[in-house]
Amino acid sequence: MHTTETTNNAPRMTRAEKAAVVARFSRYINRGQVKYLRSGHLDVIETERGGVGFRDPASGRRMYDCFSSAGSFNVSRRNPLIMQALEAALDDLDMGTFHFASPAKAALAAKLAALAPGDLDGVLFAAGGGDAVDCALKLARGATGRSEIIATVKAYHGHTGFALSANGKAHYRRFFEPLMPDFSFVPFNDIEAMRARISEKTAAVILEPVQGEAGIFPADAAYLEGLRALCDERGALLIFDEIQTGFGRTGRLFAADHYGVVPDIMTLAKSLGGGLYPIAAVLYRPTPAVTGFLDRHPVFHETHGGGADLGCRVGLRVLEYIEETRLWENAAARGARLKEALETLQHENPRIIRAVRGLGLMVGIEYVHEFVGPMMSDALARHGVFAAYSGNAPQVMRFMVPLTVNAEEIEGIIVAIRLAVRDMKTLLPAALLAARVPGVLRLLNNERVQTAAFGFLRKIEELLPARRKNA
Ligand SMILES: Cc1ncc(COP(=O)(O)O)c(C=O)c1O
Repeated sequence: MHTTETTNNAPRMTRAEKAAVVARFSRYINRGQVKYLRSGHLDVIETERGGVGFRDPASGRRMYDCFSSAGSFNVSRRNPLIMQALEAALDDLDMGTFHFASPAKAALAAKLAALAPGDLDGVLFAAGGGDAVDCALKLARGATGRSEIIATVKAYHGHTGFALSANGKAHYRRFFEPLMPDFSFVPFNDIEAMRARISEKTAAVILEPVQGEAGIFPADAAYLEGLRALCDERGALLIFDEIQTGFGRTGRLFAADHYGVVPDIMTLAKSLGGGLYPIAAVLYRPTPAVTGFLDRHPVFHETHGGGADLGCRVGLRVLEYIEETRLWENAAARGARLKEALETLQHENPRIIRAVRGLGLMVGIEYVHEFVGPMMSDALARHGVFAAYSGNAPQVMRFMVPLTVNAEEIEGIIVAIRLAVRDMKTLLPAALLAARVPGVLRLLNNERVQTAAFGFLRKIEELLPARRKNA
């Protein structure tokens, strides 16, 4: 059973041991990340990973994983059935040579084609999400012979070259410019803006059917239908990035299934690997233009890790598991309960929560100010919920627990969120008052200022012995 209580029999890592691991991570990997996580009370170390969470050994606290590595743990953490498939694959396989045909690749591709929306039955493999988006955008340019790509404001498609160029937040792009030419951005859910931008030079329109990092914005049905019609009219390809929304997350197998709109290309990653072996895929409709391009350029996109045989076996088992358990139905039911509870919380706390949005178990709450996001991450962590605010919208906290979550666990998460909001109420009035002073709100919403301020508070807290055991 999931509990936030400290247990005595769990193997414990001492504070000193945890500090040593963090110090090495900081020294050899990423000093800034350590500061950032620490300030939000998110400097946990994941042990006893399983089901819908993990234990932070230094505090002994069991944490609900409401981040799921941005949607990578749909089938739960260390799902025993998927682990068995990986172990069995290791009996006779390795990654395989990436150029070669193999039974594992063929089986996964056939399964993906069978489950995909509409007639998306061409499959290319990639190593990760950004790599899949790169592949999709290159395929669109290659197949159409056009260069323009239209993405949406605040979209998130990854950090690789083409994907980063389509990333709708300037903060991620600006240090690396010039990026790929001919990328532009229009507001999400605004068909007129797209109509004004799309042209005979447009190779593709790319978007997430439910924007994730932008702060959980489901597309309107009329918008996606309108996009489909516009793309058909102008000869552009429509790409759905379902890297975060795919595999049951939104309460249907794919988010596209809610809308009945079939894109020309769809990118998938994350949960396809069951949280155990990374694998990504690009599904496409095999029109003459696309297959013609692929016939002429069969190696237009390659990486040694894309479609590794071990990953393909894992991916196949993940898809079977999702089908066998009809996991999307659990996501729909548990997501509805979570959303209802969050809406109640919003009505009770309009000074903290501005909106609740979502589909299935992709639910977000929007706070009144950006700086509330990191404060709330901290408050939630203290009550055993690991949740992260959206990368492109810090005022929105995402709740994306593994889709295997049961009714009792959802109630546990709801209780923890209520407790965190209660804690916030003691802190927030002073911050809201300060935010009224001209210029202070901008400071409070600045990520670097937040990291410094919360990091400082954390240091003070650790020096206070009375609170130490709860930290
Ligand atoms: C919608 C979407 N696309 C692409 C990516 C990038 O995936 P990866 O981190 O595997 O490169 C992400 C990651 O969060 C995502 O949410």
